[in-house]
Amino acid sequence: MKKIDMVLGLQWGDEGKGKVVDVLTPDYKVIARFQGGPNAGHSLVFDGEGFVLHTVPSGIFREDSINIIGNGVVIDPVILMEEIESIEAKGIDITDKLLISKRAHLILPTHRMLDAASEAAKGKSKIGSTLKGIGPTYMDKTGRNGVRIGDILSGEFRNRYETLREKHRSLLAQYEGFTYDISQYEARWFDAIEKLKRFQFIESEIVVNDFLEKDVPVLAEGAQGSMLDIDFGTYPFVTSSNTMAAGVCTGLGVAPNRVGKVYGIFKAYCTRVGSGPFPTELFDNDGDRLRSIGHEFGATTGRPRRCGWLDMVALKYAVMMNGVSELIMMKADVLNDFDTIKVATGYEIDGKQIDYFPFESNESVTPVYKEFKGWKCDICSVRKYEDFPQELKDYVDFIEKETGCPVKIISVGPDRKEIVIR
Ligand code: GDP
Ligand code: IMO
Ligand code: MG
Repeated sequence: MKKIDMVLGLQWGDEGKGKVVDVLTPDYKVIARFQGGPNAGHSLVFDGEGFVLHTVPSGIFREDSINIIGNGVVIDPVILMEEIESIEAKGIDITDKLLISKRAHLILPTHRMLDAASEAAKGKSKIGSTLKGIGPTYMDKTGRNGVRIGDILSGEFRNRYETLREKHRSLLAQYEGFTYDISQYEARWFDAIEKLKRFQFIESEIVVNDFLEKDVPVLAEGAQGSMLDIDFGTYPFVTSSNTMAAGVCTGLGVAPNRVGKVYGIFKAYCTRVGSGPFPTELFDNDGDRLRSIGHEFGATTGRPRRCGWLDMVALKYAVMMNGVSELIMMKADVLNDFDTIKVATGYEIDGKQIDYFPFESNESVTPVYKEFKGWKCDICSVRKYEDFPQELKDYVDFIEKETGCPVKIISVGPDRKEIVIR
């Protein structure tokens, strides 16, 4: 019997999960998303073309792959249908390649409004949400009020929808000065619901376990990253789901003893979009260079990403809690031109040095840095580890020593082909 492997972001999201899943898919038959929703933006680049996926798993472009949207995901049918149509515009029919869990919750138009109203009310202390309705939808899930994909086929669907919408309307009325009009979006929403009916709505927990039982390789695709996890991220500046390995078990219905490889993916530096603590954030020229060389602008919202040096304290925290078995380092090429590269190896808080990620990860944290000599050459065309400059190998050695985990893959450009597998 097979175990489920997974690709998880170890930082604040946007590590390059989409690209890695696309690269690994030939080794897997099934790719499954287990949490998050259209707050995610996963970029793939191949044949000179770029593509951004929000809800559909990143295995969708590989021939013969099966792509499952698991029970832990929250779905906006409008966004999902737009995505499906843009994939099919490339001449691929995905009707039989995409399976959707009946247990996945639906993001209602009013969930989006609640997200917007809540953020507006927070003012300066806003989370910086993608405003896709993620938080309010997970609130209704845990509050046991949600409407699910499986409900679409029930005669009670419209009723359930309207009951929840009216509840939302009364909540929205509490936000003074917040005005909204969902009529257009609601019409598109029901239109998308109709169109979704051509896809199979499944008991994904049974299907995934059946695949594993029959030795079919399954890869779980994370969204966001460990530092945005609802429990262990920089709360309250987090997303509303468990983005870590444990989320695969609840988000797909796979038992912990059926977990196989845990691929932990990180950028050779660090980024974050939205508000919240980011100890190694740079406000200088180096930060601007990382942003412009790395094209660090959100794939979902277009917002500029905050940039900084690699944070080993946060990385080790994420490696520990995910049980990472192999590391994947992305965007090494972005550092090509830097004379000096820094890595935070500890934090100083009120004059005391610590080497773990603390509860109080706010502005009072000052990173302690170790410096590395940059490689100062173009590595984009390297395809064999031996051909990397020694400075890059030293950087990788250090990361392996600190985390106790092998770095198995190094990405040197956005394209599917720009990758070094050891
Ligand atoms: P995800 O959310 O984890 O899938 O990551 P995103 O797609 O939001 O952000 C990663 C960005 O980096 C995308 O624009 C990718 O095309 C790009 N990218 C991925 N790997 C590399 C790499 O190795 N080098 C460079 N320069 N860009 C990369
Ligand atoms: P991928 O899968 C980066 C951030 C938002 C915000 C916080 C909460 O592409 O890595 P939400 O919309 O979930 O209520 O936003 O989390 N965020 C992400 N940042 N990558 C993502 O996804 C993100 N999804 C949410 O910017 O700070
Ligand atoms: Mg992204």
